[in-house]
Amino acid sequence: MEVVDNRIILNNQVAMPLLGLGTWKSQPGQVGPAVKYAVLQAGYRHIDCAAIYGNESEIGQTFKEIFNDGLKRDDLFVTSKLWNTKHNPKDVLSACQQTLRDLQLDYLDLYLMHWGVAQADHGDSKPNHSGRPDLQSISLQQTWQAMEELVDKGLVKAIGLANFTGPMILDVLSYARLKPAINQIELHPYNPQHRLVEFCQSNNIAVTAYSPLGSPGNFLNQTESPVLLKDVVVKTIAEAHGKSVAQILIRWAIQRQTVVIPKSVNPDRIKANAEVFDFILSQTEMKEISNLGINYRYVDPWLWWGIPYFD
Ligand code: A2P
Repeated sequence: MEVVDNRIILNNQVAMPLLGLGTWKSQPGQVGPAVKYAVLQAGYRHIDCAAIYGNESEIGQTFKEIFNDGLKRDDLFVTSKLWNTKHNPKDVLSACQQTLRDLQLDYLDLYLMHWGVAQADHGDSKPNHSGRPDLQSISLQQTWQAMEELVDKGLVKAIGLANFTGPMILDVLSYARLKPAINQIELHPYNPQHRLVEFCQSNNIAVTAYSPLGSPGNFLNQTESPVLLKDVVVKTIAEAHGKSVAQILIRWAIQRQTVVIPKSVNPDRIKANAEVFDFILSQTEMKEISNLGINYRYVDPWLWWGIPYFD
């Protein structure tokens, strides 16, 4: 993959900033100020959104204010995601249009299929993350082809995948007229997924790392989860560089040439998480961190939907 000025060149030739602000679990009343601070004070040029996060309209209001302040739309890279209940080809366009309305944008830079799971749409205005979902008989191919049409219509510049495994990507590649630009997956030293990253990157599919800090805000796992931010190996490396553990984790992701989207609504942490371009991890340090893998997932749909998605 080619990286220029801390941006990765996607397979549609668009440059995507390696660092973005995550917004999963960013609460109402907090997400707007967080996005504003990130863009106007901390230099972020990439915001990662999703319809299911339930906060796109507040982010949209903030985008409007930011553009009124003079930032150009083209200077911001915005991702959103198609939720599972909208996989039916007849729903894909309207789901994307709803996100565009909420975000107050004419186009998205990137639109991802959030999961390879087609859930029945019961018309809930706020579909839930949890509970055993009813499924819909919609193939990945049907959904992907409807997403390709969004690019044809100019509503999105690129389309991609999230949470896709090797075999699921092979399936998409077998019929894709437009290749996925991205696969956004859970990535951090406890779940480095080296082979999946290598497979995607060698097929010119860039990779985005979500939960790069080990998802400390993920209530489902809080008690029994290994706490990545307290890892002794990473802590030792952080001390050697005069950086925080979070900054080392973000830097490790960037040096793997993965896009990385730490979530924060705290101004000090938003700022600190972006201060990762003034130091370099040595090859030995990269290896030490990469060797921490224990295949641990902080995000596992088995817990939500009873689907053994990653087994
Ligand atoms: P907050 O929003 O209060 O800053 P991940 O992106 O891996 O899911 O991690 C997001 C979680 O980590 C959020 O709970 C966020 O809380 C917290 N967080 C973000 N940045 C840092 C940081 N630099 N140090 C510690 N915790 C952080």
